[in-house]
Amino acid sequence: MIKALKGMKDILPPNSKEYSYFIENSINIVKKYGFSFSQTPILEETSLFKRSVGESSDIVGKEMYQFIDKGGNDVCLRPEGTAGVVRSFVEHKLDRKGGVNRFFYYGPMFRYERPQKGRFRQFHQFGVESFGESNPLEDANIILMLKEILDFFKINYTLELNSLGCPDCMPAFREKLIKSLNNIDGLCHDCLRRKETNPIRVFDCKNKNCQTLLKDAPRLNQHLCQSCKNDFDTVQKTLSSLGVKYKIDPNLVRGLDYYSKTAFEFVSGDLGAQNAVAGGGRYDKLVEFLDGRPTPAVGFAIGIERVLDMIKIEEDEREGYYFGALNSEAITPLFKVASKIRKTSKVLIGYESKSLKAHLKASDKANARYCAIIGEDELKENRVWIKDLITKEDHYIDIEQ
Ligand code: HAM
Repeated sequence: MIKALKGMKDILPPNSKEYSYFIENSINIVKKYGFSFSQTPILEETSLFKRSVGESSDIVGKEMYQFIDKGGNDVCLRPEGTAGVVRSFVEHKLDRKGGVNRFFYYGPMFRYERPQKGRFRQFHQFGVESFGESNPLEDANIILMLKEILDFFKINYTLELNSLGCPDCMPAFREKLIKSLNNIDGLCHDCLRRKETNPIRVFDCKNKNCQTLLKDAPRLNQHLCQSCKNDFDTVQKTLSSLGVKYKIDPNLVRGLDYYSKTAFEFVSGDLGAQNAVAGGGRYDKLVEFLDGRPTPAVGFAIGIERVLDMIKIEEDEREGYYFGALNSEAITPLFKVASKIRKTSKVLIGYESKSLKAHLKASDKANARYCAIIGEDELKENRVWIKDLITKEDHYIDIEQ
């Protein structure tokens, strides 16, 4: 038997119902904030992710599904959605039109990680990207939108915030951090590598020894320039004034290189070790970095599998009709009646003629509200016998009705 690949899973009923329930309701919410649907290819040039997510990140360094296609192109299954949306924004010259463009997307992402609870190699994200708005109120606005989505699904979470600085304050901080790291002995192999490639990543290290060693290392949020400080204050003040609780986490650096200024994560104690439900932030330099005109941007992505782990939706109520025939001549007329009723209701058809008892059983299994039967007599009299499977009442109706 051929099985799905490790870390990849099928989405089948009943979980598929929760998946579409999540997508439909999230779309309703983001549309109210002015976001429009966008879809980009799953396969992109590898260089797109190297340049955006960053060579120093684990995602690009260790986790890419990268291969050479039949035309000799170096391509990659997207590990995340932002890079593709930015590529498409620049390719379609939206950076030259000005104004604000807001997009949402959802679909599969691929990371060759070690699978565990809440961590897959193919997983799904629902994400948004907003281009053209530098005002930090947009950061606050999309955090509120994300909160609204998670609240809709009654998910428990903590919102964690940090500011990752900008090209004005980051270089000096980086030097200071490297100096401090040079005075620490015993950092793990990964942190030594991070020191060379992207030193702030050391704060993301899961190694307890490193975390202790880094306790007194300088933190970004104490070394922000005035502009970063002001913007971060605005985000915090706006959230506080609306009663949104948050925690400043000076170790929150995110796993992707493109961020500047506000970064945030929603984490949940109801998940296991993989506790991030959603994450995002501002990335004001990425459009320019991918050859577009300087355009401020901010976005987030939700891990759909992680949310679905926490969503409970009620059992489906009985719905629609099941149509069955008692003799083979009645099967074709069933289609005629079914297509009429299907204009307003869900209709399933039993293709084999069988006993009333067998049809009632089949309609129960199909979770139909009504079992509708046509037999020899009904055909002659041009009527259908209908039983309501909730009230248990039955009656005849005229086919023409
Ligand atoms: P990210 O934090 O890498 O951000 O991923 C967002 C969410 O995807 C995570 O919080 C988590 O819920 C889920 N996720 C990540 N990896 C896995 C996995 N292996 N298995 C299951 N779920 C996973 C981004 O991807 C950015 N593009 C978000 C963003 C959009 N920033 C700005 N705009």
